[in-house]
Amino acid sequence: MKNMSVLLGVLLLSCSAITLADPIVIKFSHVVAPDTPKGRAAEKFKLLAEEKTKGQVKVEVYPNSQLYKDREELEALQLGSVQMLAPSMAKFGPMGAREFEVFDLPYIFPDITVLHRVMDGEVGKKLFAKLDTKGLTGLAFWDNGFKQMSSNRPMHNVSDFKGMKMRIQSSKVLDAQMKALGAIPQSMAFSEVYSALQQGVVDGTENPNSNFYTQKMNEVQKHLTISNHGYLGYAVVVNKKFWDGLPVDVRKELTAAMKEATEFERNIAQKDNDEALEKVRAAKTTEVYVLTESEREAWRKALLPVHGEFESVIGKDLIQGVYDIASQVAKEQAAQETKKKPANQSHSDKKKQ
Ligand code: LMR
Repeated sequence: MKNMSVLLGVLLLSCSAITLADPIVIKFSHVVAPDTPKGRAAEKFKLLAEEKTKGQVKVEVYPNSQLYKDREELEALQLGSVQMLAPSMAKFGPMGAREFEVFDLPYIFPDITVLHRVMDGEVGKKLFAKLDTKGLTGLAFWDNGFKQMSSNRPMHNVSDFKGMKMRIQSSKVLDAQMKALGAIPQSMAFSEVYSALQQGVVDGTENPNSNFYTQKMNEVQKHLTISNHGYLGYAVVVNKKFWDGLPVDVRKELTAAMKEATEFERNIAQKDNDEALEKVRAAKTTEVYVLTESEREAWRKALLPVHGEFESVIGKDLIQGVYDIASQVAKEQAAQETKKKPANQSHSDKKKQ
């Protein structure tokens, strides 16, 4: 009897040892460098998730397309081979979630305030609901930043793009955007862009500065135009079955970890992009050109028709929803400005500034 209870004790101990040694593993795959806003936030999430769940969850981050390229990673997530990703919005179109391409529309977001209000409001909710039908759960929206154009030729005027082969992400909106400029779009996985530029398979591309610099594209692109013509951001997604199957307390802690990681990510994104631009300038391999106001107006004029072209695909209401938020934010910003001005400031005083 005594032997029996000793045996039982040993068995129980080894079972709990197995439980302790067997954490829930979240494979988090992404395609960019670790020292980008997404790369750093993935690491932050890992730290917070492991800390908050006291080791019950282990997060393995695989950067730089180490595990999967763009399209493959979404398929792998649906199959459950990885549990978490943060693809850019442009990557959801090919899986049938075309509404995400609203974020690719050129010049739709006047600033980051409008963008965040869109992500965090009804539009964001609608997009996440769409993912449910694809076996995914949306957890958060992360920033990268506004995109700039690069190539081996200067790009000041719309006519400069004529006949230029430009790499794009897999988005029909981006395809139309490049065509509206007179360029020839070519969709390609992010991991292939550097060598495609190096070998002249494509002439140029578009990116936020953090991606441009960390992928060393400045080594193979002579010109960078600061155009801020479009936005690149991410939806952090998990496999729905995996997420729903987690113990409630674990899911709660992971949700809290994601909330903190998201705040961190949104705080560093702009700064990372600004610093990347400084590094590009310092490297002196690429000439950086900032569009003048009138050149920017000409780009806008050429690109705005793309919005109308995609009303039926993205949804007229969804696009209108973004316009409405933009005009609401503009009103609020104007009211703030008026408040800031001293009441007794005369019109002639203002003119002197
Ligand atoms: C791209 O393919 O250009 C981007 O989506 C890469 C990324 O994830 O930032």
